[in-house]
Amino acid sequence: MKLNVPLAILATASGASAFWRMECRGRAGLLRIDPLVSPGEVGAHAHAVHGSSGFNEKATYDDLINGDCTSCAVTQDKSAYWAPGVYFKHSNGSYELVDQVGGMLAYYFLNKDASNPGGKITAFPKDFRMIAGDSLRRNYTIAGQDATQKDPEKSLWAALGQTSQVDLSQRAIGYNCLNYDIAPEPSLYRHYLPEKGYLDANCKDGIRIEIMFPSCWNGKDLDSTNHKDHVAYPDLVQDGGCPQGFDVKLPGLFYETIWATNNYQGVDGEFVIANGDVQGFGYHADFIMGWDDEAFLQSAVNTCTNLSGEIQDCPLFNIQSEEEQRSCKISVPSALSQEKVVGLVGDSLPGNVAIQYGPGPATAKNPGPQTATVAVPTVSYSQGVTSSGYPGLVFKETTTPSPIPASTPSSASSPEATDFAAAAAAPATTPAPTAPTDDGKYEVIRTEYVTSGNVVNEIIVKEAVEYVTVTTTTVTVSVPAKRAARREAAHAHRHLARGHGRPRV
Ligand SMILES: *[C@@H]1O[C@H](CO)[C@@H](O)[C@H](O)[C@H]1NC(C)=O
Ligand SMILES: *[C@@H]1O[C@H](CO)[C@@H](O)[C@H](O)[C@H]1NC(C)=O
Ligand SMILES: *[C@@H]1O[C@H](CO)[C@@H](O)[C@H](O)[C@H]1NC(C)=O
Repeated sequence: MKLNVPLAILATASGASAFWRMECRGRAGLLRIDPLVSPGEVGAHAHAVHGSSGFNEKATYDDLINGDCTSCAVTQDKSAYWAPGVYFKHSNGSYELVDQVGGMLAYYFLNKDASNPGGKITAFPKDFRMIAGDSLRRNYTIAGQDATQKDPEKSLWAALGQTSQVDLSQRAIGYNCLNYDIAPEPSLYRHYLPEKGYLDANCKDGIRIEIMFPSCWNGKDLDSTNHKDHVAYPDLVQDGGCPQGFDVKLPGLFYETIWATNNYQGVDGEFVIANGDVQGFGYHADFIMGWDDEAFLQSAVNTCTNLSGEIQDCPLFNIQSEEEQRSCKISVPSALSQEKVVGLVGDSLPGNVAIQYGPGPATAKNPGPQTATVAVPTVSYSQGVTSSGYPGLVFKETTTPSPIPASTPSSASSPEATDFAAAAAAPATTPAPTAPTDDGKYEVIRTEYVTSGNVVNEIIVKEAVEYVTVTTTTVTVSVPAKRAARREAAHAHRHLARGHGRPRV
């Protein structure tokens, strides 16, 4: 028996912005359909799809709502969430789907528009849809910046002229190198998929791919021709101010998927995203609103503001088991029923997508020869740190964090509530977390963050396992300005064993 008992959830003195983290433990499908880009047809490349079983080649709101189930935790959420899969190309030319770990997380950040802080957050309307990212992009080019330089501090972006939508959309993609033995990297820190040698040497728990959607809306169009022009990023990607003409603030959607690139440690070959992109600049993601219904989503936006981010802390949500999430599947259209997309898939990517290198854009159909990989900054391991600056600084840290205060429970079955409010109020001296198993009894099972104004809080969830009574207690502490999201590694590994994708033998 397992009890999760959050003992203390603490905000900073200045308050923190709310969010919830939609868990979609099931992958509803992995297949080559894309109702936004290729409505009614077979899509160009394979996507991992989460959410409603009603997803199809030309899915509408009604199709999603009428699906029998959702692969996400909240039964009122029959939205569709999808993004490309990740493959490994063996040195003999065979492609193999990389195992996806733990499904998908879709964060709903409830950040206000910084240029209208008194304004509200408007729920996605019925059938609202959008795409983040550009599947054909094959370079990282930010105005006025040498591509081999790291991102400057977020607070400087505007002054450097780096807040155009195309700049922001490239910074909305992140590849987080996972190593659960050390403190996590900040999100949206590295904007390219590291090469295999780097992954082998550093990312022993795989790679987490992150993408932030635009969250400023023109207030009228549910979609646009390129599925992007009706929305825009606030000027710091995840927060900041909305541009003129896009002053309806939506929840900030942020997807995370983890891919077990570590299963190929020491194996010759390279990773490639399903759209034929080896460096990851063309990562993208899609969303169709399928909440039942818009008014419900608006109530959730207004009331699900517990800073824990836990969907369990929102009284409106009906939560189904992980088993139910995993059993929800979309039906594969007959045109694709014979297509191999999981495990070893043959000597090309699904859809016969060719690898296309940059820096020029990929072509939608098969390419002519292009050059090669493009120069990227050398972005090595790094942790987020406290800063007196803007929350974005968590994406670009400069100092070495000090250890987290020890949380010393009096016993595993009755841990003390650990209060770090004082530390949180004084970011300059804020401790950062240590490695996950700092005190033996408590294992950090995940971290998440909330931001507000100029403060970012990391919430570290620790789990103590008491073997004798088989009781589990969760202690939640909050420290500022350490941005991370450690997922439930233990759970995720269990999923692997019986989950989607290539069965492990
Ligand atoms: C290529 O190599 C992989 C990994 O060793 C193997 O599983 C696969 O069967 C090989 N493919 C062919 C066509 O030999
Ligand atoms: C937030 O949720 C926690 C449980 O995780 C609960 O103890 C706390 O009272 C909630 N806070 C609010 C403001 O509802
Ligand atoms: C970089 O990518 C963009 C978007 O695909 C493209 O417009 C631009 O031409 C590319 N830059 C170079 C140097 O090819």
